[in-house]
Amino acid sequence: MKFPEGFKFGVASSSAQTEGCGFEGGRGLSIWDVFAEKPNAIRGGFKPSQAACESYRMFDTDLKNLIGLGVNSYRMSIAWERVLPEGTGALNQKGTDYYKRCFDKLLEAGIAPNVTLYHWDLPQKLEEKGGWLSRDSKRWFQEYADKMFRLYGDIIPNWVTLNEPISVFCGYGLGFFAPGYTNKAWGNQARHNVMTASGAAVEAYRASGHKGEIGVVVDIWKRIPMTNTPEDIALARDEDEENWKFYTDRLLGGGYSDYILDKFEKEGTLMQMEDEDFRLTNLPIDFYGMNYYNTVPVSTKKENIVGANQGGNFAEDRKVSNPEGLYDVLHMIRDMYKLKIPIYISENGYGHDGPETVNAADGMVHDDYRIEYLSKALEAVEKLIADGVDIRGYYLWTLMDNWEWSAGHDVKYGLLHTDFETYERTWKKSAYWYRDFIAQSR
Ligand code: BGC
Repeated sequence: MKFPEGFKFGVASSSAQTEGCGFEGGRGLSIWDVFAEKPNAIRGGFKPSQAACESYRMFDTDLKNLIGLGVNSYRMSIAWERVLPEGTGALNQKGTDYYKRCFDKLLEAGIAPNVTLYHWDLPQKLEEKGGWLSRDSKRWFQEYADKMFRLYGDIIPNWVTLNEPISVFCGYGLGFFAPGYTNKAWGNQARHNVMTASGAAVEAYRASGHKGEIGVVVDIWKRIPMTNTPEDIALARDEDEENWKFYTDRLLGGGYSDYILDKFEKEGTLMQMEDEDFRLTNLPIDFYGMNYYNTVPVSTKKENIVGANQGGNFAEDRKVSNPEGLYDVLHMIRDMYKLKIPIYISENGYGHDGPETVNAADGMVHDDYRIEYLSKALEAVEKLIADGVDIRGYYLWTLMDNWEWSAGHDVKYGLLHTDFETYERTWKKSAYWYRDFIAQSR
């Protein structure tokens, strides 16, 4: 099938997972640098500053690979702590120059940068002032966003305010992400505040007068009850409300559901909310970015969940693979909110739990399982487009193996294999496959 004219075929990455190079160039500390110091916080004890792909010095290599793949867009993020080591105030010139160079080089190569402002690396200096629990967080984020729009607004066509706001709940409420707190009331307040901050960034973008697009990325891990019992149906409903509807209701539906507000009220975890917060998140956005990986089977009876994927960035139990689920899930979201804005599949990919080795005979990683997953997911995208769904792009997660947050180096998503001793990147079989898929689809 030919995809619509101008359809974006891309790959996605994030600053924290790729840049590495310690604190070179005046990068400040992020909450992940500090979190990584806690015993067992990151599998294998890796440090983000050392465990990434050295893209801070190897961007030209990455660019060559992007050109080789034939993508026409690259989704990357700015490290807030690199451009503003204190979180607010003075810009770090070396940091801002780094991104300017990346963006210019991409544009020269005909690859549109799609830039995320927040992909989980909050400056530690702001965490010390309360982080996402602080009501000032929306102003900090707005200041940062405004500075980025002034610097790059005229050259960047697509902006994403937040990548997967659930990460903030995982950090303040569940503890397995930075900064590592396990307090549900805090988690709820933090996730409410990060959504508000997103709205504040949209406000800054409109004020800047730039004519590109700005949107938000929310990941959907739809729960599927394993049986028809009322218990399993209720559990799936509850997990859907907590894990993704919290964000999509607020962003695309105008506010929170009665279900979630009642639940938090009863639990004593209801967040403080102000009218201003809703005014900000209700500012119109230009697109919705959906990250889709899999659906999640749930049951109150553990024995029913054979090999279920828990969702999120867990290394264990990735046995449930449901690339086709993308089709129903996207239709569901579109119908649920009567969506009129365009959609991007802002992330989709296959996580392999365990080592992937370069075959000595042919110098290739034989990741046929990844190709199988990707071809089914892309078939779902084709079907959605044929149904008339306004999907403008597909970003494969991810360009090269990086570190998978709390799962460290155990889970691999890359099209390219990264050797973490030499930082050499090697094309996997799936990279050739994606290159050919793109070429045939234009
Ligand atoms: C995140 C990425 C992550 C990927 C695979 C998404 O949750 O945006 O940073 O590596 O999924 O788990």
